[in-house]
Amino acid sequence: MLHRTDAHITTWVIAIILFIVALLLHKAGREKAAKIVHMIVRLFYILVIVTGALLFFSNQSINPGLYGVKLLVGLLVVVLMEMILVRTVNKKGTGFLWLLFIILFLAALYIGLKLPLGPWHPFD
Ligand code: HEM
Repeated sequence: MLHRTDAHITTWVIAIILFIVALLLHKAGREKAAKIVHMIVRLFYILVIVTGALLFFSNQSINPGLYGVKLLVGLLVVVLMEMILVRTVNKKGTGFLWLLFIILFLAALYIGLKLPLGPWHPFD
């Protein structure tokens, strides 16, 4: 967990899938189910942050700048997921938040894969 990225990847993939499921349930008018899935998504935010933070504190000395940017971008992705869910439930606009979410999500993927841990380094 301190030097392997498996747990971190598993938690953010599940978080993104459940985030989409919560939005689809809301769209289908199934508010109660959407609310339950939203609570589970929130639990996964914590797991994403804890697994990311463990990787961060154990490895950031390798490249403090880029690790710092990864932490910030990863946290912003989580914040945007929550904002999109809450604003969707409250029937408020989310267009700009989706744009930011997509850009920062791609940035998190890119920086995560650029950093040294993990088996894939497609951008090196
Ligand atoms: C939904 C949000 C997030 C996404 C999509 C994401 C994505 C990724 C990806 C693709 C990797 C590379 C895994 C690998 O190469 O095997 C990674 C690694 C990492 N992530 Fe995240 N992450 C997110 C949130 C966070 C958060 C909140 C933090 C910090 C609190 C964080 C810190 C890290 C660290 C330190 C690494 C290790 C990088 C390395 O040394 O290779 N991530 N993440």
